[in-house]
Amino acid sequence: MARIVAGIGSSHVPAIGAAIDNGKTEEPYWKRVFSGFEKSQEWMRETKPDVAIIVYNDHASAFSVDLIPTFALGCAAEFPPADEGWGPRPVPVVQGHPALASHIAQSVILDEFDLTIVNKMTVDHGMTVPMNLLFGKVDKNAHWPCPVIPLAVNVVMYPPPTGHRCFMLGRAIKKAVESYPDDLKVVIFGTGGLSHQISGPRAGLINSKWDKAFLDNLSKDPQKLVKIPHVDYMREAGAEGIEMVMWLIMRGALDDKVDEVYRFYTVPASNTAVGHIILENHRRGAKAAGKNKPAAVKHKRAAARAKVERVRG
Ligand SMILES: [Fe+2]
Repeated sequence: MARIVAGIGSSHVPAIGAAIDNGKTEEPYWKRVFSGFEKSQEWMRETKPDVAIIVYNDHASAFSVDLIPTFALGCAAEFPPADEGWGPRPVPVVQGHPALASHIAQSVILDEFDLTIVNKMTVDHGMTVPMNLLFGKVDKNAHWPCPVIPLAVNVVMYPPPTGHRCFMLGRAIKKAVESYPDDLKVVIFGTGGLSHQISGPRAGLINSKWDKAFLDNLSKDPQKLVKIPHVDYMREAGAEGIEMVMWLIMRGALDDKVDEVYRFYTVPASNTAVGHIILENHRRGAKAAGKNKPAAVKHKRAAARAKVERVRG
């Protein structure tokens, strides 16, 4: 059966994508950001997921104010990069996993989460930037390392879903994946944030104290986070800080107790706080993922990394 083995939280700052595309990753300003993802890429190469579910938000690329689904699941066979105003990013077309995506859609809709099913969609920086950060730069004529199921969440027009709703959708996705008969190792991304505001009198707002508390609770006590009302995100993390609710879908899809195996936080990147975390399910998840390595080996590896690495405050 399929199993979600780990969750990844990552900001999806568009300027990070531009830095990759324009060859600026070695410039001191950007090297500070990219160096924080080197271990993550190593982790991803070791983990070798069969499928990634990526929770992100569309930034008026595939959708517009004409149509704003709260939760939209990509069930297509492929998702081309969107033209966000200066041509599509030079990244490969994202290959989907229609069979698993359709299974998730059926399972969660029958569990009373009314997803929008999307059979044709482009994907913007909200998804492709975290893919670059975790998979590295991939030539546009090559292939991403694994298929991806996009899950777009409305955080651009009020009202976005509550943190509790997001967490419970994650729970439903977990159940859906675990009822899929094929032996697939799945990872799930929550993207966006952390604190940032891109317009208005508070443009440039960053609240590192809030961000770090969010990461701490995401790892150890996510129930504290599901109660946070929208207005607190807006007040404490800025207008665009509401993107952080998407990380709760990722967290809801994991076990109650997880191993935090990596964390990175740096400010600023294009006026945004960059946050990143990797959470692995306990041995149960590692065992299910053991088609490439024995469970004991994977558990030993997880234990060795349980000493959380914290890079830059
Ligand atoms: Fe965003």
